Amino acid sequence: MSKFAIDYSNVLPFIALDEIVSMADKSEECRKVLLEKTGKGNDFVDWVKWPITISSEEVERIIACSERLKKLGKYLVVIGIGGSYLGAKAGLSMLRKYYESNEYQAIFAGNTFSADRTYELLEYLKDKDFSVVVISKSGTTTESAIAFRLFRQLLIEKYQDKYNERVVAITTNHDSALHDMALESGYEEFFIPDGIGGRYSVLTSVGLLPIAFEGYDIKKVLQGSIDAYNEFSEKPYMENKALLYAAIRNLLYKKGKNVEILGFYEPKMRYIGEWWKQLYGESEGKENKGIFPASVIYSTDLHSLGQYVQDGERILFETIVEIEKPNNDVDMISDEKNLDKLNYLVGKKLDYVNKQAMKGTSIAHVEGGVANIKISVEEISEYIFGYLVYFFMFACGVSGYLLDVNPFDQQGVEAYKKKMFELLGKPKN
Ligand code: PA5
Repeated sequence: MSKFAIDYSNVLPFIALDEIVSMADKSEECRKVLLEKTGKGNDFVDWVKWPITISSEEVERIIACSERLKKLGKYLVVIGIGGSYLGAKAGLSMLRKYYESNEYQAIFAGNTFSADRTYELLEYLKDKDFSVVVISKSGTTTESAIAFRLFRQLLIEKYQDKYNERVVAITTNHDSALHDMALESGYEEFFIPDGIGGRYSVLTSVGLLPIAFEGYDIKKVLQGSIDAYNEFSEKPYMENKALLYAAIRNLLYKKGKNVEILGFYEPKMRYIGEWWKQLYGESEGKENKGIFPASVIYSTDLHSLGQYVQDGERILFETIVEIEKPNNDVDMISDEKNLDKLNYLVGKKLDYVNKQAMKGTSIAHVEGGVANIKISVEEISEYIFGYLVYFFMFACGVSGYLLDVNPFDQQGVEAYKKKMFELLGKPKN
């Protein structure tokens, strides 16, 4: 098991330890409600035990499907939006190398109406072999449905009546237009369980198939989530990182800290931030309540948002995810002339500089009135990805119950769709 730790010492200037301790009973009660499926939205909590209920047959079928698609071409266009793409995107962005592409590549589409991006991707793929995995639990989401229509047409033009072997549909097995299309055209299908909503689906085929396609070990991802489930479902509050994270952010919220900034000092984690924003934003932002989730990559964003964080409205707190060991490091080299006056760093490593930036920023932000939760993970790996996403999901379920909202619906998302459909002249039926 890789190391994963939470440090809330930089919250204590803002919340007394007694207050944290006093949340034990309530937090454990919320966990019980989540585990026993007796709370709000209890039809959508099957993700909680999913790491220990996903069958080995399903895992093997995901791997076999990814191997089959690889034989058909280098590219996999992953069509989906929200929870139907952010988990895979987060995992791949975290695990990939920066400048060296994997032999097989997932390309994400259908998460925007951007004409330019869609046009350019269609052009890019014209002379390349590719397959499509279209992911939509409802099977009717407009962004992904439009993209599927367009990329399906390109597949038909390129591969005629054999195009359908290049399409995989991930949806529900009932009441889904996508399921109907899959049945009619003979696409391979994976089903998203009814009891798992989009933003909690990263550990199903939704997240795992694209990750497997690029050659990453999804069994390690699942092992991370199994270990996280065992830990968070059993450990008592004061030893339970997920419960402590949920409780502390709830206490900070009650003290007027309405914005949480999830920060990383490693740009590979940018999409973990994007995935997390959907998870917490859609789960908690309702009934005129909820912490607004924002994310940053430091030290980059210290040169843009840093001023506000240090000195703006005091409505913020930070959760910083530290990667303890980078995969690689760089020596600080000596320069005879030392005109840049950096020789004081000779003998140090670049990650050491990054860590000091992190420590110094935390001290400055705490002094400036910004509480700071630190989560440390040992490394970047498939295992840590599985553990980390499960940690955030479990904490989110508990946190939603602490806030007394239903963390598993998203009625508010319908409002923009209604107005857009009116403007587009969509028929009512
Ligand atoms: O969390 C959710 O359920 C949503 O945000 C969905 O992930 C998103 O709207 C995409 O929906 P669908 O998978 O039905 O296309």
